[in-house]
Amino acid sequence: MTESTIQQSLDVEAVRRDFPILGKPLSGGRPLVYLDSGATAQKPQCVIDKVVECYENYNANVHRGVHSLGNRVTTELEEAREKVRSLLNARHVEEIVFTSGTTASINLVANAWGRKFLSAGDEILVTVMEHHANLVPWQQVAEATGAVLKYIPLTADGRLDLSALDELLTTKTKMLAVTSMSNVLGTINPIKELSNRAHQVGAAVLVDAAQSVPHEAIDVCDWDADFVAFSGHKMYGPTGIGVLYGKRQLLEAMDPFLGGGNMIRYVYRDRFEPADLPAKFEAGTLPIAQAIGLGRAIDYVTSIGFEAIGAHEHQLTVRAHEALAEIPGLTIYGPEPSQKGSIVSFSIEGLHSHDVGELLDRKGVEIRVGHHCTMPLHEHLEVSSTSRASFAFYNTLEEVSALAEAIRYAREVFRLK
Ligand code: ALA
Repeated sequence: MTESTIQQSLDVEAVRRDFPILGKPLSGGRPLVYLDSGATAQKPQCVIDKVVECYENYNANVHRGVHSLGNRVTTELEEAREKVRSLLNARHVEEIVFTSGTTASINLVANAWGRKFLSAGDEILVTVMEHHANLVPWQQVAEATGAVLKYIPLTADGRLDLSALDELLTTKTKMLAVTSMSNVLGTINPIKELSNRAHQVGAAVLVDAAQSVPHEAIDVCDWDADFVAFSGHKMYGPTGIGVLYGKRQLLEAMDPFLGGGNMIRYVYRDRFEPADLPAKFEAGTLPIAQAIGLGRAIDYVTSIGFEAIGAHEHQLTVRAHEALAEIPGLTIYGPEPSQKGSIVSFSIEGLHSHDVGELLDRKGVEIRVGHHCTMPLHEHLEVSSTSRASFAFYNTLEEVSALAEAIRYAREVFRLK
């Protein structure tokens, strides 16, 4: 399917043809039912081709050469940066910093912002549903500065309990670090409201948008977020590339996190002057082909359109809730489909999630099992692990049925009543 032929509503069979891996059976001829896009999304041919094009035709380092290849690759990389700016509706292109992924982006802020602006007794507000990538860096910076971590609790159905905010948000709160969509519960958090509340007490707001960016239109100005992090590989782009959006005045006030090439204006024997944004935070050689590939992925996804993507993925999520609710002993975690994105995490009484994962794999159904890098959330749910199906716009209703059938098969293998 070419992008120009993609209509308002999503033609899933046509879209699937854009992803070469989806047509390839697993060993033994099992058809692939890929339900693990929350971990990493599959790549359309146009992204694969773009990465190959870069290496085959204009591979060189960026921002360094005066030669033709260097100029070409720099132009391509900066075009990709502009595509990211447009995707997020950021005001300025220099607010877009390339990193290696969401984890690196959050670590950058925790270190470059946290170590400079936090001191003993300051509070960092996080939530019980955060991925470890949005917890551990804050724990580290809290330990280094004497700041204290506080948690927004959850409601019984896995949403943020906003009634706790009156007590939790005080003038001591300096940072609110929150996911826009839980990678386990699927919960979509009210970022605009949270951001507004946090700003009223003078706190900065960091949004882990890794799970949202592939599924919904993001507007960092509407959110009024100070920092937003996401990864390319969940957005149908290559691995090894990520993005940190930061408001210009905040990025300017921060010191560089990593030192090295590209991030300096001038180096003396005893000191250096940092480069302007965004180079100041881009020490060393960037993941160049990956950034260019991400630019292509953004073109592809936006040509399909988030309206069509959202509608299709919502349909899959609703169907999954219906199908899984009929299975005895199965518990779904998180809110109703109207409150969440296309993630369905569950447990089955009498079955460990690792057995679920292995037995589903026998049927070609690929899901993620374990704690999904959210141990505090699992402790809250009082389970050590869960099984998670995560849907992308290339998944079909038939694949949702295959998931339910494979779970029934797993229960039969274990002779569960
Ligand atoms: N953070 C990714 C996930 O939730 C890897 O699966």
